[in-house]
Amino acid sequence: MVGPERTALAPVLAKATSDLAAAGVDAPRADAEWLAAHVLGVDRGRLMLIDTIRAIERRRFAGLVARRAERIPLQHLLGTAAFRHLELAVGAGVFVPRPETELLAGWGIAHTAPGDTVVDLCSGTGAIALSVADESPAGRVIAVERAPAALLWLRRNAARFPQVEVVGGDVTDPAVLPGVTDVEVVLCNPPYVPDGTAVPPEVSEHDPAEAVFGGADGLAVIRPVIKLAAALLRPGGVVGIEHDDGHAAAVPELLRSDGRFAEVTEHDDLAGRPRYATARRV
Ligand SMILES: C[S@@+](CC[C@H](N)C(=O)[O-])C[C@H]1O[C@@H](n2cnc3c(N)ncnc32)[C@H](O)[C@@H]1O
Repeated sequence: MVGPERTALAPVLAKATSDLAAAGVDAPRADAEWLAAHVLGVDRGRLMLIDTIRAIERRRFAGLVARRAERIPLQHLLGTAAFRHLELAVGAGVFVPRPETELLAGWGIAHTAPGDTVVDLCSGTGAIALSVADESPAGRVIAVERAPAALLWLRRNAARFPQVEVVGGDVTDPAVLPGVTDVEVVLCNPPYVPDGTAVPPEVSEHDPAEAVFGGADGLAVIRPVIKLAAALLRPGGVVGIEHDDGHAAAVPELLRSDGRFAEVTEHDDLAGRPRYATARRV
């Protein structure tokens, strides 16, 4: 029943969708639904069971829609980002994990055996490291991140995983993990967008630049990461590195030319774009 305090939800959602579309938001209907579900305190899938919205909720929803129309990332407004089976805390100062990275994390999980040591370089929120801790039998997971603001989010997200060690450090420094050797799996989603590439406002204004841009050719972090992975891995261990879709040839070539890797393989994402390269340490 729609009383004075309540309004039908459908037109409120339709208006939010058209406002977000006008603001250039990529998936306006989905974002309107996520925000409505957040305000109503339900899963997005249950939204279709709700007919009305109270005035107080409608005002809160309108405020969130207005902020999303300013191109503040949806996940910053929700306070969390979904990644595989996890809800990761996100906000200012940390990169919002992307769905395509779930594939690299899944590849790493599939290559982790009981008791293995897994290293996640450029860990951000911990999306990859914590998924490995959550879904694999790894004995030890080391998450390396340089940015102090990102480290705060990473430590917060990692708190419930006792097998995860957070290390503040620079992955381009060969000595970043002293004493760590014989690692079975190294995973990395580094900054890889070539400097100067146009990106949407959600990225340019809210993802830290050092999380996104990887030097003039986008490979400035990947090059030393390949050297570091070769030094960390035991013979037979594996590495997986996410990269820009323009680097389908460059990253496998860097892995091959290092001389310490075999089985170099390129992988597409679900949209058919080249997304990560993997290899085995000889
Ligand atoms: C693309 S984000 C990936 C974050 C997370 N792994 C994910 O998949 O969502 C890259 C991360 O690498 C960090 N980073 C950039 N350069 C780094 C460096 N030289 N050493 C360590 N971390 C670095 C950034 O702060 C950022 O958190």
